[in-house]
Amino acid sequence: MCGIIGYIGDRDVLEVILEGLQRLEYRGYDSAGVAVMTGDDLEVVKSAGKLSNLRDKLRDRHLSGRLGIGHTRWATHGKPSETNAHPHRHGNIVIVHNGIVENYLELKRSLMLEGHEFYSETDTEVIAHLIQRAFDTGYDFVHAVKIAVSRLEGSFALGILATSEPDRFIATKRNSPLVIGCGKDEQFIASDIPAIVNYTREIKHLEDDEIAVVTRQKVVIYDRNLEIVERSSHNVTWSPIMVEKLGYKHFMLKEIHEQPRALIDTIMERVDKSTNRIILEELENVSELSQVSKVVLLGCGTAGHACMVGKFLIEKLARIPVEVDLSSEYRYRDPIVLPDTLVVPISQSGETADTLAAMNEAKGRGAITVAICNVIDSTIARSADHVLFTHAGPEIGVASTKAFTTQLAMLYLLSLYLGRKNGKLPLEHEHDIVLGLLRIPPLISSVLDRLVELDNISHRFFHCRDFLYLGRGINYPIALEGALKLKEISYIHAEGYAAGEMKHGPIALIDEHMPVVVVAPMGSRTHEKILSNLEEAKARNGKVIGIITEGDHSTPQFCDEVFSLPLCAEVLSPLLTVIPLQYLAYSIAVLLGTDVDQPRNLAKSVTVE
Ligand code: G6P
Repeated sequence: MCGIIGYIGDRDVLEVILEGLQRLEYRGYDSAGVAVMTGDDLEVVKSAGKLSNLRDKLRDRHLSGRLGIGHTRWATHGKPSETNAHPHRHGNIVIVHNGIVENYLELKRSLMLEGHEFYSETDTEVIAHLIQRAFDTGYDFVHAVKIAVSRLEGSFALGILATSEPDRFIATKRNSPLVIGCGKDEQFIASDIPAIVNYTREIKHLEDDEIAVVTRQKVVIYDRNLEIVERSSHNVTWSPIMVEKLGYKHFMLKEIHEQPRALIDTIMERVDKSTNRIILEELENVSELSQVSKVVLLGCGTAGHACMVGKFLIEKLARIPVEVDLSSEYRYRDPIVLPDTLVVPISQSGETADTLAAMNEAKGRGAITVAICNVIDSTIARSADHVLFTHAGPEIGVASTKAFTTQLAMLYLLSLYLGRKNGKLPLEHEHDIVLGLLRIPPLISSVLDRLVELDNISHRFFHCRDFLYLGRGINYPIALEGALKLKEISYIHAEGYAAGEMKHGPIALIDEHMPVVVVAPMGSRTHEKILSNLEEAKARNGKVIGIITEGDHSTPQFCDEVFSLPLCAEVLSPLLTVIPLQYLAYSIAVLLGTDVDQPRNLAKSVTVE
């Protein structure tokens, strides 16, 4: 996690770095720091806590120069103090690091035996010592970095400055994200594109163990043998405006409201309007897809919930057995990959360490991989055999919203595609689902217009300490997602449960203090069963909040509060039912005054295990 940025050029270095860090704060906000080459020296300023603390500290101390690096931290080794904040300095060297050096204790011990002294508890400081040590034995900057990183195990993306090198800096990486932004007489490095998209859209990527030497005019990339590598750049479509709040109070609220647009962008280009059939050009020549015998869906957090919905869709529409696994479990459980197994890692960022490792595990066992990602050029997108990009645009709020619904959209498209390829999905059925999907964005817009109705419900329940979320079938993962949203941003304990399981445990928790949010759209085979669950909850004085369908006259009698959604086919309902749950969590968090976009202890992109 953590975010790093580096800049060389004629702009105000400090401003470029602070603005970039602000856009990277979603990656961690335990501390922040900058280092700027001012004349012949390097000045380092850092501060515990959020970036605003660093800004305050720098208010009366403007560092000017042409070269600098910055860091925003999600603490892994060592508490979130100023001492442990990056950049870390040793001798001539100043570095920022995203990742984890797994063998740092061993390296630290051997350096200490040589007389090295350490001031922080971080793994990062070891890297600065190793580079300086190589410098001291006569190696130049590039060789010193190469020698140092060859001793590291684990993951890193590094920005490295040396006082003796006032006109250049170095970036390198292994298993952690890093992009290079190229401009005219100015260059950037960053953990993610939003940090630099205000200045350039021309992006290059760095492969693991490559070393980039960044000067004002150009970036020279060396491979692990220090041979120069030619790397072309490409333009990203994300624009600066997409990473602004545009008048919304929080990014999360903006992103909730962007869902109709994000879905249209994701779906429309993959529908042939004349035939209402799906076109997935990305998979057109992948002949193996017509004989897939098993699908494995892998993800973490919200993406894991998308996988659970995906299981319903692929089994229903393509009649292929599906396994869903959390990436962190799959990678360690000696999984069975049969011939013709399709593995689909799902990741908004494309950088989640567990999902990347799980995908690589499956690939190593012979699976064909088709990733669903939102970030072009991300590591998962580049490492998968094939990739389907969602077009959610940059998602900044830590709690995922539009990334989730676009992942669902992509799963509908993939299910239809697989069903057509293996001949199990009748043409009329494909048409019906496609037409239904196309109707979803305007239906979501109509729901967004009424979200404020949920504010009354939030006012009534925001002081509660526990919430139970219930759903069944395809809406069971939506209950889990609703509970996750509430936990993440309001810090209220919330549990999602399959409604049929309520009697086997959670019913013991229900009393007059426990709100029970029930996802109960009409038209599902289990609707009547859910009503029985509601009766049971009411009999124990539970306070029931129903997410129901307009025109449903039976469910409200079991509910204390309801929010109605337009009618749609059950198979498509998750795209609607999740919207009020996202907003309910948001509205409760706002009442509680939490930091909605940057909730405590969380990070948007989890690039460590
Ligand atoms: C973190 C984020 C979640 C996200 C999960 C997976 O936990 O806070 O919002 O769902 O990582 O991220 P990915 O980028 O792989 O979808």
